[in-house]
Amino acid sequence: MKSEVIINKEKKQVIKICNSPKMFKKELYIYKKRLPFTPKLIDNDGKNTLMLDYIEGTPIVDLAQPNFVKITELIINLHSLESKNGKCICHYDNNPKNYLYADGKYYMLDFSEWIYDYPESDLIHFLLFWASTYNAIKFKHVFEKVISTYKAKRLINPLEWELILPEIILRFDSRRREFGKKQTHPDISTNREILKNII
Ligand SMILES: Nc1ncnc2c1ncn2[C@@H]1O[C@H](COP(=O)(O)OP(=O)(O)O)[C@@H](O)[C@H]1O
Ligand SMILES: [Mg+2]
Repeated sequence: MKSEVIINKEKKQVIKICNSPKMFKKELYIYKKRLPFTPKLIDNDGKNTLMLDYIEGTPIVDLAQPNFVKITELIINLHSLESKNGKCICHYDNNPKNYLYADGKYYMLDFSEWIYDYPESDLIHFLLFWASTYNAIKFKHVFEKVISTYKAKRLINPLEWELILPEIILRFDSRRREFGKKQTHPDISTNREILKNII
């Protein structure tokens, strides 16, 4: 855990105590934008604590069939907020626990690590979670859905994709070790090969 999260289901509120002022500032920056796909910010203490609306939802990793078109639309919306020399706001920690599904809607949360980066890095990192979770047939389908949905609205640079893929895999693997996640699907190598097929 990167922070302390206290959930009060009765009051429908979540208190998040961030581990550092930097993380708090990052969270606040995004929540203050009051985006329609994030929990609403109720209050904050200006230091390290946020109070958010509680989303009574299911993490997408627990859904039988997450809607990857709708999930990719969240990423498109985040990436489209700002742009700086080809870089955009990237979620960075886009693990499937940071996406919830409730009442037909998808939500994104946990903006404590966002950075300005090339969009390709965020998409690769997001897809690596599913490459560790799904068999090759299912993963190929997810890969194609995510890429075609993204490309319908925003550019993907295939050269940038190819060049940064190895370093994003290193980052992913080192974070998995850091957070003690060992579980991987036997198709992971095939899935990572599929990930190279960007056009
Ligand atoms: N507003 C919210 N509504 C519902 N669940 C939440 C909310 N905020 C956090 N959670 C739950 O708490 C978990 C941890 O919160 P998160 O903001 O991701 O903190 P961390 O930095 O520790 O990962 C999330 O994965 C989610 O399951
Ligand atoms: Mg989180």
